[in-house]
Amino acid sequence: MTDFETILLEKRGRVGVITLNRPKALNALNSQVLQELVVALDDLETDDGIGAILITGSERAFAAGADIKEMQPKSYMDMFMADFFAGWDRLASARKPTIAAVSGFALGGGCELAMLCDILLASDTAKFGQPEIKLGVIPGIGGSQRLTRAVGKAKAMDLVLTGRNMDAEEAERAGLVARVIPADELLDEALKTAETIASMSLPVAMVAKEAVNRSFETTLSEGVRFERRVFHSLFATEDQKEGMAAFVEKRAPEFKNR
Ligand code: CAA
Repeated sequence: MTDFETILLEKRGRVGVITLNRPKALNALNSQVLQELVVALDDLETDDGIGAILITGSERAFAAGADIKEMQPKSYMDMFMADFFAGWDRLASARKPTIAAVSGFALGGGCELAMLCDILLASDTAKFGQPEIKLGVIPGIGGSQRLTRAVGKAKAMDLVLTGRNMDAEEAERAGLVARVIPADELLDEALKTAETIASMSLPVAMVAKEAVNRSFETTLSEGVRFERRVFHSLFATEDQKEGMAAFVEKRAPEFKNR
């Protein structure tokens, strides 16, 4: 397996676990982190043995943002020509289900990375925010868009314009977080969730994720039409036959991912 310097990659059964690992910088997201994340993601996405991907950080910080020290000396032309941050779109195009397990700081790019995942699980110590305005910039990895879709205009404006943090409870109430979990149980619970998802039919889980994500990109009637078309298409899979037969025969299904 590739040697990484800023992340750890582990395969635990059918779950791929990526751990951000720059403790001295509170897992600040620099270009190397992004490069390594993309390599790890490509590996997990092409591995037939992996059914779900978990991204996590440390207890103190999921990630305290994009790396400010890396960005500080850059000019407009540097940022524009490099299309800085565009590489993060790779996370948005992941086809397998992704889960963020967030403990501690998830600020700026850290909050944006968590929002790029399909399910956001938070420990009771998690802190979310888009503090970029305090640095004289704005969110740059989709925060102004994804946060607004997740929590609505009122709270998104409050967070983006004041730069204040939101604790886990507020984030759950606002709809950003699926579940809040005691800090010492976060990783186990997140792994359990990932294992549950990975025990389903992978192609069906991929289609389910695509259908939910389509709701962000299209009108209601087009979204429902898309859902119905892909719903019909699942009747061409062996896993639909197996899933429904297992129910009728009162036994657990054995999905073949076909
Ligand atoms: N970039 C680079 N380094 C960072 C960092 C970041 N985003 N966040 C923390 N660090 C570094 C600190 O510089 C410090 O390093 P040194 O020991 O070498 O000085 C180390 O991590 C520990 O941080 P602190 O000493 O500051 O720890 P703290 O507990 O006192 O404070 C914190 C924690 C409140 C999270 C504080 O570190 C902080 O405010 N960090 C910056 C948060 C931020 O502004 N994030 C947004 C970045 S911009 C962005 O993300 C743009 C975008 O949209 C993608």
